[in-house]
Amino acid sequence: MPTEAAWWQRGIIYQIYPRSFQDSNGDGIGDLAGITARLDYVVTLGVDAIWISPINPSPMADFGYDVSDYTGIDPIFGGMADFDALLDAAHQRGLKLIMDFVPNHTSEQHPWFLESRSSRDSLKRDWYIWRDGKDGSPPNNWMSEFGGSAWTFDEASGQYYYHAYLPQQPDLNWRNSDVRAAMGNALRFWLDKGVDGFRLDTIHHLFEDEGLRDNPLNPDFHEGLPPREQFERTHQTDQREVRDVLGEFRRICESYDDRVLIGEAYLPLEKLMRYYDGVHLPFNFHLIGAPWNAAHLADLIWRYEQLLPRNGWPNWVLGNHDRSRVASRFGIKAAPLAAMLLLTLRGTPTLYYGDELGLADVNIPPAQVQDPWEIRVPGFGLGRDPVRTPMPWASEPNGGFTAGKPWLPLHDNVSELNVQTLDGKPGSLLDLYRDLIALRRREPALSTGDYGTVEHRDDVLVYERVHAERRLFIALNLGTTLIYTPLPGPGELLFSTVHGWKGKIAGDLLRLQPHEGVIVDISAIA
Ligand code: GLC
Repeated sequence: MPTEAAWWQRGIIYQIYPRSFQDSNGDGIGDLAGITARLDYVVTLGVDAIWISPINPSPMADFGYDVSDYTGIDPIFGGMADFDALLDAAHQRGLKLIMDFVPNHTSEQHPWFLESRSSRDSLKRDWYIWRDGKDGSPPNNWMSEFGGSAWTFDEASGQYYYHAYLPQQPDLNWRNSDVRAAMGNALRFWLDKGVDGFRLDTIHHLFEDEGLRDNPLNPDFHEGLPPREQFERTHQTDQREVRDVLGEFRRICESYDDRVLIGEAYLPLEKLMRYYDGVHLPFNFHLIGAPWNAAHLADLIWRYEQLLPRNGWPNWVLGNHDRSRVASRFGIKAAPLAAMLLLTLRGTPTLYYGDELGLADVNIPPAQVQDPWEIRVPGFGLGRDPVRTPMPWASEPNGGFTAGKPWLPLHDNVSELNVQTLDGKPGSLLDLYRDLIALRRREPALSTGDYGTVEHRDDVLVYERVHAERRLFIALNLGTTLIYTPLPGPGELLFSTVHGWKGKIAGDLLRLQPHEGVIVDISAIA
């Protein structure tokens, strides 16, 4: 642990999905002015930074993850003046602002792709990945993350182009130095404006095997999995050259003060660690995929810590715009415990908007489905609309999110589950989040401290966090029965997810209610 931790090591990141946070103009879609208007709420949470999913101009085939201009703002979200106002308002409140940057692919409507597509002789042909087919079929067996072949045939120029995601998201060719230069300039544009860092989209996809070798069959494939899982992604992701590009990104960022680079890569822990060369925080999504099981979590925490490179700073993500919400994954009863877990683990936590209220996945009627993933691969339950529904602010129609028709329906108990109602309501999840965050801010042991033990005792996950003379004992009962678990000695209860009480614990046995988590100060024990 460096003596002076950076803000992104001490701090907490709050992810905002801009379409769904706050609409300010009645078109049913959230926007930048809406986020600005809600910053005071974000401040009340006690978080340090907001990360905003993409706001660049985009045909919205994948809701902003298909960028057609890297240095602009999509009119749906506002204009550059709205962005400047948001950045300024965030900074005035001591909040950092992290942008989403999508380097792997552009929109098919990006002028670069339009030019690249225009002819085989185009000066930008090599900016994307064009290949001849094989006997009337695509160049190889690579599949798109959204289903179907990863190659789309372009009639006019008679070649296929590669897209790891939608056909509307052609992959850039990162082996081309002009692409690297152009994207570097885009990063500098935002850094010059004063943004505090980037979340880099899908970095493990930046390069593909140059020889375009077929992917091997996935030995674990079975009926019920989406067809795209038939093959491993051996030659399609996680190629060695990624690190060079990330190194360039990092040099650019580090030529400015105090900026952070976060990378999105869904990879096993061993592979994820290699991305520490390039980014400060390769997102650790392993809590998202984890079962709610004390043995599994203890092993995960321990393995992650063991694998971290020297000087590699840990981080944990509880939810995001692509995966089922925590209240649905682990159940609403487990939500307070999950909050305590996220906020007492070593490393930077990322919290997804609405999870602090206990929002669950919302059932979207088929006729209202918006997500291209669900539309292309129906029936696999992979659609992401359920986790992207509008933030409920008050018990009003549409939860105060919009005066118009929301782009996705809100959950159906808005009158009870909204910020205004939960605000200050004793025992509400929102207050629990605020209190836990405040405690984490007061206790360096919780944010930057080391671990003592990490273990599980039946259903109870137990760990210690230590900083200087401070020693905090955390026990989370993931089970559904009352349980007693040993405490290393007498201590002082600082926080419980169940009781409102705090105070001395005289004995050396902790009594934990079902779904109860506690933080006990045991610094006095010799
Ligand atoms: C990332 C984003 C996801 C998007 C995909 C393609 O995984 O989080 O929302 O669809 O990249 O850009």
